[in-house]
Amino acid sequence: MRHAHSRAHPVGSQSASAQPTSAQAARPRRSAGWTGTAAALIGAAVLAPALPPLPAAAQSATGIPAVLDALTSATNPTGIANSLQTNGATTTANNAFFQSLGTNGRSCATCHDPQAGWSVTPSGVNTRFQVTQGTDPLFRRIDGATCSTASVATPTALLRAYAPLLGKGLFRIAQPVPANAQFTLAVTSDPYECNSNPATGLTSASSGTVSVYRRPLPATNLRFQSTIMWDGREASLTSQAANATLGHARATTAPTAAQLAEIVAFESGLFTAQASSTAAGALDALGATGGVSALSQQPFTIGINDPATPASFDRSAFTLFTAWQGLTGGDPVTRARQSIARGERIFNTRAFTITNVPGLTTQANPSVQGSCTTCHNTPNVGTHSTNVLMNIGVSNATAPPALDVTGLPVFTLTCTTGPQAGRSVAVTDPGQAMVTGRCSDIGRMKVPALRGLAARAPYFHNGSALTLNSVVGFYNGRFNMGLSQQERTDLLNFLRAL
Ligand code: HEC
Ligand code: HEC
Repeated sequence: MRHAHSRAHPVGSQSASAQPTSAQAARPRRSAGWTGTAAALIGAAVLAPALPPLPAAAQSATGIPAVLDALTSATNPTGIANSLQTNGATTTANNAFFQSLGTNGRSCATCHDPQAGWSVTPSGVNTRFQVTQGTDPLFRRIDGATCSTASVATPTALLRAYAPLLGKGLFRIAQPVPANAQFTLAVTSDPYECNSNPATGLTSASSGTVSVYRRPLPATNLRFQSTIMWDGREASLTSQAANATLGHARATTAPTAAQLAEIVAFESGLFTAQASSTAAGALDALGATGGVSALSQQPFTIGINDPATPASFDRSAFTLFTAWQGLTGGDPVTRARQSIARGERIFNTRAFTITNVPGLTTQANPSVQGSCTTCHNTPNVGTHSTNVLMNIGVSNATAPPALDVTGLPVFTLTCTTGPQAGRSVAVTDPGQAMVTGRCSDIGRMKVPALRGLAARAPYFHNGSALTLNSVVGFYNGRFNMGLSQQERTDLLNFLRAL
């Protein structure tokens, strides 16, 4: 896999530099979000309610501040995102989310970085790789590398082992083939020889381990989730935190009940959203309700806005920028705000025909007239308000041109029992089918929340949409939306403002 980011320098290029001091090591984590142009940063600083960067002294050697203030800011390529803790500031050394609870030095914050929308970005990963010469706890072979057995013996091997992580911020997720699976698996493409090697992968067409490569979902805005994990495999945030500690952090025993409660309380009281945009300024100006403050007060219950109950479904699920629809004036900031408001309207109401989406369409109902909010329906958040996973085709082995699926393994699943017996399909990730064993769940993924998007490219479970522009291009093609260039720009500007 090639590195998608220009900051992926070969290891040799840094070998001349001395071992970084702890002060130097601290700085890149803090500055990892500063990837915009100087002009963009100046523009954002002028227009935005930005908080000053933390003084270096307030940070530990890992780049996590000693005290994470109740309101913090992080710069991203199109503006500034804020995170708000409704439970108040956190002394990180005393909070289990930030503590190393396992055996490999990792904490939750290793992969859920406050500077990267509580996920990781390729630029942040590359900075950590260079500054620590590949020793940051991110770089553990167990799931940071292409395979747990990947060679890291030479600088070239090291770069190859961590290529999916450096290129797209992907981690390896390994799961056993469900005992009751309705399908058999064949490995059609195995770029890392992890899935076809019986020691690490499949031991037969119906047994062994399947490794797929996925983006960390943000550990924020969790109060609005009806589904946990891309494939919905966790029943609660408590079980998720226990399994993350046993898995990613290689703990030998699960965290205590008190530690789990502390992690869940921390992440459930955390909200993240874009606060200001380089082009449009403060996203809560003139009656708009972008930003974290309104988000933290957004009501939510499971099923709050469910298109399966048409009588109570409101397709206008996003109302953040309604107040900007009537803005008049032709100055650049007003024009940027008008574009965001138009984009919100497209997101809510632009109708298109949704076909072939397991989880939504069925044989009896093969097509649905809908909009983006048919699936992203949780008001002002964009998760699906009920626990329903869907396959929109992102894991198809033959991906549309807007998506980059290079470097991903390909599995051919052949259904042997159940209603779909005889069907054969090639995917880069079986999704929910690895949890339930059902053919009808192949490729189904959770409908993710859409807040704080600008902070955490690339997108989709496998990072195949390198930019939000690629996301818009994907949908325009996948559902024949027929968006004009202006409509694409408006939708893009809306997504960047979330
Ligand atoms: C090695 C990197 C890594 C570490 C360490 C890690 N995570 Fe994650 N996290 C991920 C990845 C990757 C996913 C998505 C995996 C999937 O869906 O299959 C994820 C998903 C999640 C989700 C699901 C969010 C949603 O919207 O469904 C939560 C919550 C979460 N992690 C919390 C935690 C907590 C709490 C810890 C510490 C106990 C932790 N993570 C440690 C990489 C990591
Ligand atoms: C049929 C249901 C459905 C419709 C309609 C839909 N989405 Fe999605 N959306 C999903 C699912 C499912 C995913 C996760 C797919 C994956 O990663 O495999 C997703 C992912 C996304 C993501 C990536 C978020 C992330 O964290 O990576 C964005 C952005 C997005 N959708 C925007 C839109 C926009 C804009 C529209 C309208 C043009 C739209 N969606 C219409 C179901 C839908």
